Amino acid sequence: MALRLVCIRGAGAMKSPYHVPCPRGVEDALAEELRALGADDVTVRPGSVDCVGSRETGYRACLWVRSGIRVQEGLVRGDVAGADDLYDLARGFPWERFMDVDQTLSVHATGRHPEFNDLRYGGLVVKDAVVDRFRDREGRRPSIDRQTPDLPLRVHFGERTTRIYRDLAGQSLHKRGWRPIQVKSPLNEALAAGLLLLSTWDRGSTLLDPMCGSGTFVVEAAMIASERAPGLGRGFACERWKDHDRALMERLRSEARARAKPTLPFTLYGADRHHGALQLAAQGALAARVQDLVCFDQADVRTFEPSEPPSIVMVNPPYGQRLGEGEDLIESWRGLGKLLRERCPGATAYILSGEPELTRHLGMKASRKHPVMNGPISCRLLRYEIRGS
Ligand SMILES: C[S@@+](CC[C@H](N)C(=O)[O-])C[C@H]1O[C@@H](n2cnc3c(N)ncnc32)[C@H](O)[C@@H]1O
Repeated sequence: MALRLVCIRGAGAMKSPYHVPCPRGVEDALAEELRALGADDVTVRPGSVDCVGSRETGYRACLWVRSGIRVQEGLVRGDVAGADDLYDLARGFPWERFMDVDQTLSVHATGRHPEFNDLRYGGLVVKDAVVDRFRDREGRRPSIDRQTPDLPLRVHFGERTTRIYRDLAGQSLHKRGWRPIQVKSPLNEALAAGLLLLSTWDRGSTLLDPMCGSGTFVVEAAMIASERAPGLGRGFACERWKDHDRALMERLRSEARARAKPTLPFTLYGADRHHGALQLAAQGALAARVQDLVCFDQADVRTFEPSEPPSIVMVNPPYGQRLGEGEDLIESWRGLGKLLRERCPGATAYILSGEPELTRHLGMKASRKHPVMNGPISCRLLRYEIRGS
């Protein structure tokens, strides 16, 4: 098949197509975030949102998107029948506009293609094409760095079209820089923020997570309420590109700094029975600079007395993947149901559950069930309206 290729982002192009992946289940929240940042033609897909925007939109997305994990700018697309077509597609693109030969790149391939059953082969073909282009022009080649490449490229094999993107963020956007160490099974920050954005929380009233672990919901809620940009504490791959607009990023960063509210007229609460988890939550809040907006208590959900009735409860109780948690788990879920019914009058509760067998021990009927993927675990975000006292 003859190769038809389209350069979808050339020098001087005013608007680019962006592809922003996210955890499954929070696409609508992400679409809303991107619209608010000025993106056009926003289209929701399973596990991602596509849109069109200026460079400023792309930079704003890196700084402000809470529920997405990457900001990928579409560079070139074509009908690719096999390795030769893919090589030509990548070889024809002027990569030297973005990176020097002394910089590094990586290529990650996703999607499906009959000629690339092993997706790594697709990535290798694109890498060879970029490297060969540099070698022919300059007699030297750029190196590969899989951890922190200067130019992280992504090739996606769609049903009909293959697209090559550059990833503006580099490290996944869920890595805000506030989590002190990589804990065992924390909730992904982008998922937590997406669920908060999907909820009916008005961002102006108290919120409680009574089994908060490392505090992801509480810290993310505090960042949302105080309008602290999630990307303020980190850098992005695009800042190392030759066509980076330093002045624009600096302006957007100082705008974001000025917008962050140092105080709030309400508190975001977290509780957990595990002391170590609470220490991580407190350290995380400090690193995210929201320590004055949150309050963490060590308590068992069965006996916990909230300092004030929350308007929203957002919680991710244990699902029992670990051995030996059986009986205690059921007691904890029962205790959570009792806490909600007896000590959270008038609240709306959202429970991220990965196990319907445990959910029934709450003794309550959900008014809504929203499917969500928590990593590899298929979950439901359950909503409960708690009667007022
Ligand atoms: C799935 S983890 C929550 C993870 C959390 N969302 C995060 O971001 O790290 C469940 C948490 O429930 C806590 N937990 C389990 N049973 C509890 C109980 N009876 N009372 C209070 N906390 C409990 C565990 O200590 C654990 O931190």
